[in-house]
Amino acid sequence: MRINNLEAALIRKPSHSDLISKDGIIDLLEHHEVFDLTIFDETDSTNDVLKEMAKNGAPEWTAVIARRQNRGRGRLGRSFVSPEGGLYMSLLLRPELSATESLFITTAAAVSVAEAIESMGVKKVGIKWVNDIYIDNRKVCGILTEGAADPTNGRLSYAILGIGVNVITPDEAFPDELKNKAGSIFGSDAPHDALCSLTAAILNRLYCRFSSHNKTDHLSEYRSRSVIVGKNVTLKINGKELRAKALNINDDLSLLIKTDDDNITSVLSGDVTVTDF
Ligand code: BTN
Repeated sequence: MRINNLEAALIRKPSHSDLISKDGIIDLLEHHEVFDLTIFDETDSTNDVLKEMAKNGAPEWTAVIARRQNRGRGRLGRSFVSPEGGLYMSLLLRPELSATESLFITTAAAVSVAEAIESMGVKKVGIKWVNDIYIDNRKVCGILTEGAADPTNGRLSYAILGIGVNVITPDEAFPDELKNKAGSIFGSDAPHDALCSLTAAILNRLYCRFSSHNKTDHLSEYRSRSVIVGKNVTLKINGKELRAKALNINDDLSLLIKTDDDNITSVLSGDVTVTDF
């Protein structure tokens, strides 16, 4: 009984200092003057809140962050479970890209998030094509980029870069169906202010990347972090399943695969599961 009490005392519970705060982030930003941050305790989806702001003319680098989301959204119409302990952030970009190039935003963001996580002492942060971050075979982050194209020239009039990271999310917070799939970056070993530090580390890298780099500069790092290249995978495309070997990620970000019947082809989107980790 006394041992149980001792164990309970040693298990680190999220405390007030773990709460994400505007001041805590701004203090760590390299270019705090360019960002306009709004933080909510709770919202439906930060992407939806920011979309309204974008339509009303909000400037680039406006960011909406929530401590919890009630209707977090993921790719392919899925929901994104968003309990306290995670980072749920949407960032407004107004890039010189066509709507069809928005995958370059998602993948550059994936590299930025992976680097930011590693800057906090975590090793081997991988990326699963196209938008998921993995540590130890568990998904710790998903990215959803949504945008609106200008019909006159096909260019993006804005892009909403939505990033959801399980930072200090307790295992119990994940529903049963995600228990062996989702993970959190930190457990009881979380550094003080992990949420603010990670948020600032991500924003610093995103600013650097999107304000000056070429749209393809991140590709070699994106490829080198791939957890699927060289692996046998199952691809779900439009409800159909395809077994293949992932060979590479092409310059246009499509996935080069060799199917079971030895055909080499490229796919631009789909849901990948690794069958041999
Ligand atoms: C995915 O895993 O398919 C993408 C998940 C993206 C989740 C983030 S959390 C912040 C932003 N708001 C949302 O509703 N979704 C994105």
